Amino acid sequence: MVINRKIQTLDEFTIQQMRDFPNATGELSGLLRDIGLAAKRVHVEVNKAGLVDILGDAGTMNVQGEEVKKLDIFANNQFMGVLRHGISCAGIGSEELDDVVIFDDDISNQSKYVCLFDPLDGSSNIDVNVSIGTIFSVYRRVSELGKPATKADFIQEGIKQVAAGYVIYGSSTMLVYATRRGVNGFTLDQSIGEFTLSHSDIKCPDKGKIYSVNHGNFFRYEQKVQDYIHLCQKKDKENGGPYTQRYIGSMVADVHRNLIKGGIFMYPGTTDKPKGKLRLMYECNPFAFIIEIAGGKATNGNQRILEIVPTDVHQRTPMFIGSKLMMEEMESI
Ligand code: AHG
Ligand code: MN
Ligand code: MN
Repeated sequence: MVINRKIQTLDEFTIQQMRDFPNATGELSGLLRDIGLAAKRVHVEVNKAGLVDILGDAGTMNVQGEEVKKLDIFANNQFMGVLRHGISCAGIGSEELDDVVIFDDDISNQSKYVCLFDPLDGSSNIDVNVSIGTIFSVYRRVSELGKPATKADFIQEGIKQVAAGYVIYGSSTMLVYATRRGVNGFTLDQSIGEFTLSHSDIKCPDKGKIYSVNHGNFFRYEQKVQDYIHLCQKKDKENGGPYTQRYIGSMVADVHRNLIKGGIFMYPGTTDKPKGKLRLMYECNPFAFIIEIAGGKATNGNQRILEIVPTDVHQRTPMFIGSKLMMEEMESI
């Protein structure tokens, strides 16, 4: 008997995907379930923000010298906690951890994946009730199974990602993840407490009308970037314009919008920070993977993001990402 199910939860979807692969072990499904669980806990806390003492600074700096918020730490602990106690992850790297954490117990050492996280993206928006997110990246270990994971497992090119995704805590909470088979989005149905398939097989439109960049840095961008921004501003109807500028300051929210509507997002290098601000391993690579699977492009201005050979978990890179034809127009400059 075939049951025509109208709704599918994240668990049901990942298990369905697994059933299509006779040799699949279910570890990736387990990993996504764990991430979904931590995301729900963060969602609950984000929704209480303002009522409980979770807003504001934790009073410390992270390894990159940035102020840490209480919610950054809460989110980091939730994701680390579920993955440490789960059976699908051998270790994690995170914006909020100086170094990678190798779980190193009998079960974790048998796990074939490691994860990298930006547990809370858009920290500066936490205190003002603007959309924030979580970004994650999953790699298959290169080290020997049965032994503890190694640093090399985390420092792999983005092209080697097995899966990548994000959670957006917005007007609704959504989890979007990509594997090589496609990008799918799940909206948290609060009545049953489950992420439920709402956006299947997401494709990024080839063209859009949105460009997203921090204009406050305009005079610190290199000339070609300034030229491209001028081109965006001058677009007329005959040439696919006018373009509109949208910049939330939470990469998750900005890129999510552009993924759905079409658009381009940029965080270029500046004269004082030539590598920009965004982190390769847990901000740029996961989004580059998602956008490419959805049909878009992502570069650092010279090179495909996914082909950058990493040297450090916390390294930064300039980032240009979005709709295919808009990216090609930008590249032509
Ligand atoms: P995080 O909160 O994880 O440190 O990341 C913030 C990032 C990113 O989400 C956003 O696109 C960018 O910082 C905004 O930076 P500016 O305020 O410099 O534009
Ligand atoms: Mn971030
Ligand atoms: Mn963050």
